Amino acid sequence: MASSHPPSKPSGRSTRRTINPDVIAIDGPGGAGKGTVASRLAAALDWHLLDSGALYRVVGLIALRRGIDFDDAASLAEATRKADIGFKEAAGALPAAVPIRVLVDGVDETDAVRSAEVEQPASRVAAVAAVREALFATQQAFRRPPGLVADGRDMGTVVFPDARLKIFLTASVDARARRRFEQLKDREASGSLRAPFGSDREGVAGAAAQAALAAIRASTEARDERDRTRPVSPLLPAPDAVTIDSTEMSIDDVMAAVMTLVQERGLGR
Ligand code: DC
Repeated sequence: MASSHPPSKPSGRSTRRTINPDVIAIDGPGGAGKGTVASRLAAALDWHLLDSGALYRVVGLIALRRGIDFDDAASLAEATRKADIGFKEAAGALPAAVPIRVLVDGVDETDAVRSAEVEQPASRVAAVAAVREALFATQQAFRRPPGLVADGRDMGTVVFPDARLKIFLTASVDARARRRFEQLKDREASGSLRAPFGSDREGVAGAAAQAALAAIRASTEARDERDRTRPVSPLLPAPDAVTIDSTEMSIDDVMAAVMTLVQERGLGR
C-alpha cells in the first residue's frame, strides 16, 4: 500500500503502554452490530478505531472498477499495495460514535465502499491470501496510544492475537439480514444510496421490500459461508474470545455488556 492514514488522536492519556497500546478486538459476521459497537466504544474510550472490513471493501471496489479477476491474486495484491487508502474522522462527529470517511487516492469513496454492490467483491478479495498479507501491516499501524478498537473477522485471531479483550459478536442470519435491510433503507432515504431499495411506503411488508430483504438474506448467507470456510483467516472466534449473541439484544444492551467486560479488564482508564 502506498500509504494509509489512521486518524490522528492525542496520545497523552497514558505512557504505560506506549510500545504496545491496548487493543479491543470485535469480530463476527456482517450485520451483528460490530461496526456500531466498535465505533461507540472507540468514542467512549477516546481510542482509535479500525474498521478493517472497509479495507477489504476498498480492494473489492478497486477490483470491480478495474475489472480485475477475483482469482488473479498477483494483480489484486499489487492493486492493494498501490492503493492510497485513508480514513478520516468526519467533522461534526456525534459524541456517541466515531463516523469514519474512507478516502481512496484522495477521493471520498465512503458511499461506494459501503454500498451493497461491493459486499460480494469484498468477500471475494478477502479470501485471497496475498491481499490479506498486503493489508496486514496497514492494520497493525492503527495500533497507537491511547488504544485501538478494531473490528473485523480476524482481529482477535490473526492481526491482534494479544488483544486485551476479544469479543465475538454474532446474531442469527435473519436478524442480521433485517438490520442490513434497515441500514440500506435509511441510507436510501438520506439520499446516499442511489439504487432503489424497497422504498415502497408499506415498509418491510411491501412486495419490493420483501424481495430486497430476501436478496439480502441470500447475500448474507453466501458471504458468511465464504468468510467461514476460506482457508486463510476464516471467520472464527478466538479461543479466548467472549461470544455475545445480539439476536435478541438492542445495540444499547450490547454496549452495556461490552462496557462491563471493558471495566472488568481495567481497560480505558
Ligand atoms: O465487515 P464488512 O462487511 O465491512 O467486511 C467486508 C468483507 O471483508 C467481508 O466479506 C469479510 C471481509 N473481512 C475480512 O475478511 N477480514 C476482516 N478483518 C474484515 C472484513
